[in-house]
Amino acid sequence: MKATIALTPGDGIGPEVVHEARLVLEAVAQKSGHEFRFTEHLLGGCAIDKYGTALPADTLAAARASDAVLLGAVGGPKWDDPQAPVRPEQGLLAIRKELGLYANLRPVRPYPSLARLSPLKPERVAGVDFLVIRELTGGLYFGTPKGRTMTPEGERAVDTLVYTEGEIRRIVLLAFQLAQQRRKLVTSVDKANVLESSRLWRKVAGEVGRQFPDVKLEHQLVDSCAMRLITHAPQFDVIVTENMFGDILTDEAAVLAGSLGLLPSASLGEGRRGLYEPIHGSAPDIAGRGIANPTGTILSAALLLRHSLGLESEARTVEGAVTAALEAGCHTADLGAAQPLTTVQMGAAIRARL
Ligand code: IPM
Ligand code: MG
Repeated sequence: MKATIALTPGDGIGPEVVHEARLVLEAVAQKSGHEFRFTEHLLGGCAIDKYGTALPADTLAAARASDAVLLGAVGGPKWDDPQAPVRPEQGLLAIRKELGLYANLRPVRPYPSLARLSPLKPERVAGVDFLVIRELTGGLYFGTPKGRTMTPEGERAVDTLVYTEGEIRRIVLLAFQLAQQRRKLVTSVDKANVLESSRLWRKVAGEVGRQFPDVKLEHQLVDSCAMRLITHAPQFDVIVTENMFGDILTDEAAVLAGSLGLLPSASLGEGRRGLYEPIHGSAPDIAGRGIANPTGTILSAALLLRHSLGLESEARTVEGAVTAALEAGCHTADLGAAQPLTTVQMGAAIRARL
């Protein structure tokens, strides 16, 4: 097959890890006779430096013209000034919204050989295999009114948590469809004891659930879910939740896997086009040193093969190569290796096992 993949390496360690993922995709293309064309674009802080905007129009146009976007990470101390008129993160939020990518899939399946990395006891992590589906284009991140005003009592800031029935229905529907291919349990996470938007969420989740008699639905409050992720994580199969709850719970869930550097994500909408990115950030403290772990980005490339290009067996090949490399003891510094591999060496170790 032929496909166009838009790369937005972004800031910090983004370019280093995206480069390794690209090499993996190139190796896959060569082995399987596919033709992948790569284009590269600015997004985030690097785009602010050059154009004064975090999502330049030609980056968005290229993303729309592509089959998939592979993103590194955005942000860094250079652009962190709270007074700054634009922030790198706005570019990420804008591209998600513009491409209509409302579903963010974050699979969490720790590698047994890395269990020692988790601060949790091994028995809390053994058998963990769940998928968080985070709503990505609604909720507190996008609701209006939003902003700051001056009042006689001082400044006032407002963010709005808003969801429509339609926005809830499509994401919960996806959760049930994916649960059908898994262990058939959906945990819908909300704060229905306090928030009106959560009471609507719970009602709609229940309605969707009745269309799937073979899938069990449970509702859980976000605070107790945060606790259960630490105490009983193996119980989860598919977790579906609103934007900000999902943001927070997935960083927490990454602790189960032992390193943020390992986890991939896929952001999907109605069509096949998706945006793929590791869940870690731009790690400015280690940027440019060649020690970042490219695994989360390479696994994101595997999700790209699966969801946007429909290449399931190639996706599995990449995931298998990652597992084999990790089991063989190929570890970067974040995995606590005594003799850590560099970013480039880790990429090569994975490619060698394709
Ligand atoms: C994530 C990140 C982003 C988010 C930031 C960088 C805007 O934390 O992808 O989880 O909050 O969505
Ligand atoms: Mg986050």
